[in-house]
Amino acid sequence: MTDHFDVVVLGGGPGGYAAALYGASAGLEIAMIEESRVGGTCLHKGCIPAKELLQTAEVLRTVRTAKEFGVDAGQPGVDLATSLARKQQVVDRLTKGLESLLKGRKVTVIPGTGTIVDAATRRVRVSDGTEVTGDALIVATGSSPRSIPGFDFDGERILSSDHVLQRDTVPGRTAIIGGGAIGCEFASYLADVGSEVTVLEALPSILPGVDAEVAKVVARSFKKRGIVVETGVQVQGVDRGEHLTLHVRKNDVDAELEVDVVIVSVGRAPRSAGIGLESVGVETDARGFVVVDDHLRTSVPGIFAVGDLVPTPALAHVAFAEAIVAIRTILGEDVPAVDYERVPWGIYCHPEVAFTGLTEAAATERGYDVETSVHRFVGNGRALIIGEPDGVVKIVAERDGPILGVHIAGPWATELIGEGYLAVNWEATAADLGALIHPHPTLGELFGESALALTGRSLHG
Ligand code: NAI
Repeated sequence: MTDHFDVVVLGGGPGGYAAALYGASAGLEIAMIEESRVGGTCLHKGCIPAKELLQTAEVLRTVRTAKEFGVDAGQPGVDLATSLARKQQVVDRLTKGLESLLKGRKVTVIPGTGTIVDAATRRVRVSDGTEVTGDALIVATGSSPRSIPGFDFDGERILSSDHVLQRDTVPGRTAIIGGGAIGCEFASYLADVGSEVTVLEALPSILPGVDAEVAKVVARSFKKRGIVVETGVQVQGVDRGEHLTLHVRKNDVDAELEVDVVIVSVGRAPRSAGIGLESVGVETDARGFVVVDDHLRTSVPGIFAVGDLVPTPALAHVAFAEAIVAIRTILGEDVPAVDYERVPWGIYCHPEVAFTGLTEAAATERGYDVETSVHRFVGNGRALIIGEPDGVVKIVAERDGPILGVHIAGPWATELIGEGYLAVNWEATAADLGALIHPHPTLGELFGESALALTGRSLHG
């Protein structure tokens, strides 16, 4: 027997479960097919576990500096098994919460692997033989870690992010290939818990795409903490002996690097193969991403795709936003598309990085008459009180026009970006923000100072 639903959702990660929850809250009957536990990469192999382990690093740094605050906390040590157990508790709790939300909204969660078998009826066959059809289908099967030739993951010494998040020992020496979001978070975490870390990045700087001034703050902090960052490097291969010997080339010079573990963090690949997309005619691009319009419609009417499966920023909160746009489009509502240039980004290395909108370089390239305001946390009372003076708030604005971008490196940047996000998306001017009061002493004051300075007058900065 085939059950029919208003919407069938394939995949129960942030894209899929957001579509299910939001759709159900709008009165739609939803079936969601998930082959593992609900929550997807974000909850089980990404955002949540990674930030949990980074919190262990944060606690360790706090205890290490406790003496400066007059607190004798003894000599701290790290027990990653305990950290992993705590991580699992957090993950389990959130998973149970999500399961009960889905149940409460009467979403039919079907366990198993789904394959799309018919476009006209949006029919999906589940691995146990069950079949469901929907007025609409939302595909949200996510992504998996990508590797490079010669570096197939073995889970022991050549690791993806999935493996790092399960590992209860600290490697002696770690090479991280790729200095993007994942590479920098792991570099920061592993260095704090005691590994000797080398980051190997192909481009001229780590965190490509991040405003150069902000990326520099991270590079300087990494250097201070003993993390070696090699940029402009081509990784050519690895010999697997007692240790791993990496062959790298930089400025046409060949070199070797001996390590115990390699983490490959060169991006993620969409999980679009083997789920029937091609057989029902859903178009994918050369890299395997599903091609969608700005309302997440695929090339086949009635079939939508959201989340890491589509070539938009691979962020859980972007998947949430896309899920809402897809459901509202299915409901026939007039919904604005996601403004991908202005989504908030958060990278949880130490110091944290967060940004939204255009970088100075991008704004200049677009031809804006750009002005910037840069303020450092070293002049901020709260930052000194908490012992986190490294970092910067940078506002990029059009002269006499709106704020185009906000870029932060420093303490709690990922929380502070909320205000920057509102400013950029409401197209506020520096004068609008400069007139607003920021409580004192807070880290957020630095944002207010930066905005005020753009009006040509200032208090502290
Ligand atoms: P990424 O695209 O952020 O960074 C990959 C890096 O690897 C780039 O800097 C690239 O230049 C470099 N690279 C590529 N091939 C290379 C090679 N052969 N040798 C050396 N370097 C090479 O990808 P990443 O870090 O794997 O993260 C994947 C996605 O996951 C991100 O795009 C992001 O959307 C998401 N993510 C977001 C996080 C956050 O917001 N906190 C945290 C982790 C991931």
